[in-house]
Amino acid sequence: MKIEKRILVTGAGGFIGHHLVRTLKEDGYWVRGADIKSSEFELSAADEFEVVDLRQYENCERVTREIDEVYNLAADMGGIGYITAYLADITRNNTLINAHMLEASRVNHVKKFLFSSSACVYAQHKQRSADVAPLCEEDAHPADPEPGYGWEKLFAEQMCKYYWKDHKLDTRIVRFHNVYGPLGTYSGGKEKAPAAISRKVALADHGQKIEIWGDGKQTRSFMYVTDCVEGLRRLMASDYREPLNLGTDELISIDNLVDLISGIAGKKLVKVHDQSKPQGVRGRNSDNTRLRQVLGWEPATTLAQGLVPTYRWIEAEVEKIKEPAAAPAA
Ligand SMILES: NC(=O)c1ccc[n+]([C@@H]2O[C@H](COP(=O)([O-])OP(=O)(O)OC[C@H]3O[C@@H](n4cnc5c(N)ncnc54)[C@H](O)[C@@H]3O)[C@@H](O)[C@H]2O)c1
Repeated sequence: MKIEKRILVTGAGGFIGHHLVRTLKEDGYWVRGADIKSSEFELSAADEFEVVDLRQYENCERVTREIDEVYNLAADMGGIGYITAYLADITRNNTLINAHMLEASRVNHVKKFLFSSSACVYAQHKQRSADVAPLCEEDAHPADPEPGYGWEKLFAEQMCKYYWKDHKLDTRIVRFHNVYGPLGTYSGGKEKAPAAISRKVALADHGQKIEIWGDGKQTRSFMYVTDCVEGLRRLMASDYREPLNLGTDELISIDNLVDLISGIAGKKLVKVHDQSKPQGVRGRNSDNTRLRQVLGWEPATTLAQGLVPTYRWIEAEVEKIKEPAAAPAA
């Protein structure tokens, strides 16, 4: 008799979690989703979906019952504006979620636990130039991470290692570099650069101005969400317990990102730079050497490919908001 693997995805109401649940279901797994809110844009494919606050231990204990593998994606997070504004709340909320999720997974004999960390753990002093050297896993130490969010992720990585050492909870640690794609937050303050820029481009008319945070010369690399989900599942299936980058090494300036998105939209727009807005580190890129070694694979979707469905989805969302409410039937 085939024994079905039971998987928990926390943060299943969020962007990456929602996509992950869908692919796990497509492959026939039994999936429980958990999040403090339901899925924002479409119904979750999960077999069970628990709306719970994972800062509370009792909720973590309940959702990890009879679970084989946990993808712990729940976190209080957002783009650079959000994570630089709420240091205390983000640090407290995420530390509570991660500490309780690890302990509940231990208590309920979860077989594998994956923690979603971030490139924000990398030392800030290694990211001071726009043509930054790609960051390899060792560049997180000596510690000088992003205030708040980066410190909390680095601490939780360490907790994962301790739970393996002391309790043999089999942990995986992934360091995402900016993920984008359809069904990601694109407004309200938690959106990240590709989604925020897509929204601004969608709202602007040909020839109009759009506001860009910083001087536009800061650089990043971005990973399409289907690659992200594929990498997550490959890492979970591996036996690798050290932190691992998951991103692309296609470095691009924010100005060039704007040009790429405007090109997809078929609009010529005037960029206005607001240097008073937070822009984060000057440059950040992913060194995928270890990723290739460990998984024998790396994300392959280029920005030019991935931004097309992303922009089209955000454009359609923005159109819904712009449309006047239907006139009442006569
Ligand atoms: N998207 C990226 O570019 C990126 C980059 C680096 C790291 N990450 C990490 O990947 C994970 C998923 O990110 P995402 O982009 O899908 O973000 P997201 O904000 O779309 O999803 C996170 C989900 O966690 C939920 N959550 C927050 N507090 C909770 C609580 N107390 N109890 C239960 N659920 C709670 C939110 O409601 C949200 O749905 C996060 O841990 C994030 O820190 C993402």
